[in-house]
Amino acid sequence: MTKGIILSGGWGTRLRPLTCTTPKTLIPIVNKPVIERQILLLKEAGVKEIVLAVSVLAKELKNYFKDGSRLGVKVHYTEERTPMGTAGAIKLAEDYLKDDNFFMLNGDVIFNFDLKEMLSAHQQYQGVCTIASKNVKDPSRYGVLLINEPDQRIQEFLEKTDYKPPGGIYVPMPINAGIYLLEPEVFSYIAPHKNVSIEKEVFPTVAKEQQLYNFTISGVWMDIGNPYDLLKANILLMKDLLKKSKEARDNLFDDSINIEGKVLFYPPVTIGENVVIKKNCIIGPNAIIGDNVYIDEDSEIKESLIYNESHVSKNVKLNKTIVSNNCLIEDHVVLQGNDENLVILAANVTVLKNIRIIAPTTQCLSICHHEVVRESLQ
Ligand code: GTP
Repeated sequence: MTKGIILSGGWGTRLRPLTCTTPKTLIPIVNKPVIERQILLLKEAGVKEIVLAVSVLAKELKNYFKDGSRLGVKVHYTEERTPMGTAGAIKLAEDYLKDDNFFMLNGDVIFNFDLKEMLSAHQQYQGVCTIASKNVKDPSRYGVLLINEPDQRIQEFLEKTDYKPPGGIYVPMPINAGIYLLEPEVFSYIAPHKNVSIEKEVFPTVAKEQQLYNFTISGVWMDIGNPYDLLKANILLMKDLLKKSKEARDNLFDDSINIEGKVLFYPPVTIGENVVIKKNCIIGPNAIIGDNVYIDEDSEIKESLIYNESHVSKNVKLNKTIVSNNCLIEDHVVLQGNDENLVILAANVTVLKNIRIIAPTTQCLSICHHEVVRESLQ
C-alpha cells in the first residue's frame, strides 16, 4: 500500500520572521496550512498512512495534526534533533516505509494535480524514483532535469549550483518540483545517521544508473520559499480553486461574515470564519483574510494576506502586506509593499496609529513577533 512522507523540519530562514513562531509548512495558503492541503491530496490518491518528518518547531506540528484522525489518515512522526537533510530525514522513517513505494513531498510546495496519475506513471516506468517536474521560465533557483523525452528517463539531475546554461542565458526548463515517488530501494543509497541531501547525493547517482524518471505536472505549482512567493502562491491557488466546483468557490467565502454598511469586494477574495467588516471598506483584489479578523470602517485591503485573529482599525490601508496572527493595527496606518518586496508583520505585532511602513525596493520590511511599532519606517 503506497504511503507518504512529508518533509517538514527545515529552518525556513527565508520566511523569517513568520517562521520564528510557525513552522513553514503550517503557514496558511488560502487559509489552510500548506501541509494540510498536501495531506488531503495524498488522501484523495488513496494514501492512508503519512509520516511527518519534523524537527524545527516540531511541537507545533504534532499539536496541530496529532494522530491525523481529524483528516481521516494515520499520521506518524519522525523527529530529528537538528535537521538531517532531505534524505537523512526519510532514512529515519525507513521502518514505516520499507514495504512498498511511497510519495515524498517537500512540505512547502503548492500543487493541485491528481497524485494517482503520478503513481500510475511511476508504475509504468519501473524505475527507483520518479520526480515531478514543472517547466518554469526562470530555472536559476531550482534543480534542473535533463530528460530523455521518448521514455521520460532523467539523464541528468543538476542541482541549482551545478547547472550552467549554454551561453549563460536561462531558458524555460523542467525543474525539480519537490514531489517524488520512491521505491524502498532508495534507502540503500542513503548512509544512516548522517546529514544527507536527496537532491545532491542521491538523485544524481540514481540518474547515472538510469533509474530516475520524470512526471510532468499539469496545473498550478509553486514553492513558498520566500515572502513574495508566499503571496504569489496564495493568489495562484485562490484563482485555481475559484475555477473548480461551486463548492470549492463557496468554501472560499465563509457564510459567517458580518458586514455592516456598504463594503466593496473586488474579486478574487477569500474570507475565513467569523470575519467582521465595517462600512466603506474596500477588500481586494487578491485579498485573503483568515478567521476571526475584524476590519473597521474606511479600510482597504489589497494584494495582502491577513492570518487569524487580527484587528484592523479605522482607515487602514494595506497593500502587498502579510499580517500574521493576533496583530493589532491601529487607526490611519499605511502598510505598503511593492512589486518585489512586502511588508510583513509577524505574530502579535502592534502598529500604533498614524504609522506608515513602506517597504524599500531592495528588501522586505519585516517586523518581529510581539514588537510594537511606534515610528514610521521606510
Ligand atoms: P530555507 O531555510 O528558507 O531554505 O527553508 P527550509 O529550511 O524549509 O529549506 P528548503 O526550502 O530547502 O526545504 C524544503 C522542504 O524540506 C521544507 O518543507 C522543509 O521543511 C523540508 N526540510 C528541509 N531540510 C530538512 C531537514 O533537514 N529535515 C526535515 N525533516 N525536513 C527538511
